[in-house]
Amino acid sequence: MNVLVVGGGGREHALCWKLAQSARLTRLVAAPGNPGIARHATCVAASVDDHDALVRLADKERPDVVVIGPEVPLVAGLADRLTAAGFAVFGPSARAAAIEGSKAFAKAVMARHAIPTARFETFTDAARARRFCRDLGAPLVVKTDGLAAGKGAIVCTTLEEADAALAACMERREFGASGATVVVEEFLVGEEVSFFVLVSGRHVTPLAVAQDHKAVFDSDRGPNTGGMGAVTPVASFDHTLRARVMTTIVTPTITALADEGAPYSGVLFVQLMLTADGPKVVEFNCRFGDPECQAILAPMDADLLPLLAAVARGEPALEIASPTRAAVCVTLASGGYPGAYATGVPITGVDEAAMLSGVEVFHAGTTLRDGRLVTAGGRVLGVTAVAPDVPRAIERAYQAVDRIRFDGMHFRRDIGRRKPVAA
Ligand code: AMP
Ligand code: GLY
Repeated sequence: MNVLVVGGGGREHALCWKLAQSARLTRLVAAPGNPGIARHATCVAASVDDHDALVRLADKERPDVVVIGPEVPLVAGLADRLTAAGFAVFGPSARAAAIEGSKAFAKAVMARHAIPTARFETFTDAARARRFCRDLGAPLVVKTDGLAAGKGAIVCTTLEEADAALAACMERREFGASGATVVVEEFLVGEEVSFFVLVSGRHVTPLAVAQDHKAVFDSDRGPNTGGMGAVTPVASFDHTLRARVMTTIVTPTITALADEGAPYSGVLFVQLMLTADGPKVVEFNCRFGDPECQAILAPMDADLLPLLAAVARGEPALEIASPTRAAVCVTLASGGYPGAYATGVPITGVDEAAMLSGVEVFHAGTTLRDGRLVTAGGRVLGVTAVAPDVPRAIERAYQAVDRIRFDGMHFRRDIGRRKPVAA
């Protein structure tokens, strides 16, 4: 099978690394890819936002499956374009991707179908939003309706912070059109988990569960990032809980989308809070998590290609056995990230790190300059280790991290060590 992967981050590197192991793969092309992906795929310089160029590339390559990694092209309708051009696409239509692309839409679907989530209301009027904040009381969360590069959920510990967040979104339009509509919701207390299922319309196959570490510093301090590391499996997410989430959240959601004329296809990333009242949806995403994807694919025994190909053809993906091993992915970030950071900083030690058994170093923000590997983003590398259990995966991942250097490099030292929150 010929496969085209759209994207060029750590998630897409993990996807390409895993797809490249499939005996069924003939040719792998990535657009735009990155220096890590280039070890497994032919990389073609095309922006994920340039849909015309991507359709032309697909016409040239004639892939059997196109896998779209990031949410922005999905929400903007890239899967629709490629499907209309006759390709089998792994990734939802724009209408179904609105489950991530519009928080107001996602919350309305949940409200209509009594799917457990934080109590909320949606606003286009700042004065009304401020009044609802007073009803709800702090802490609360203000969310931009549209995509905001991971910065659209503002946790407010006081009403003053809530007022400031509403002014930033709705009055100063700091997030552009994304913040013209906001969702204001109750703050949920509990442990967060990322649950991934493969969906073909009304059929769903559970895939994996992981835990992200969003805050930039150890012990969950500092501002949120795209994800400073991930671990799988998650001890608190046992079979009973998984069955409950399937029954109360996943099945009603995909049924609702199909009934409402927006059948879902692809991976549905269900971000959950395990609260004292049971699991509740924090949000839905229309793609794999990054860095969760690196952690869940690394220990996966199953061949990923037939799973993605089945979903891309609109067929159910077969059930896969739960992995018997654990994995930890530690993000190595540029100095200053998630704020401003330099790029073009030389990186050393990646090959030495990858020599350790069970270790893969996924490239997230790297590029080659005069043949040397240099930084090109906030999250630079995802050092991922597989081992029989989480403690050994942690040990191995940090051994590998110790071999990598670049000026300003920073990372969390507690990935996988988070204590469960007493809900
Ligand atoms: P989101 O962009 O919705 O994934 O939110 C980013 C992060 O904000 C989540 O991973 C949570 O840690 C936090 N968050 C979002 N919504 C809530 C909520 N209702 N209660 C508590 N934390 C939340
Ligand atoms: N790691 C969280 C996300 O991909 O949204």
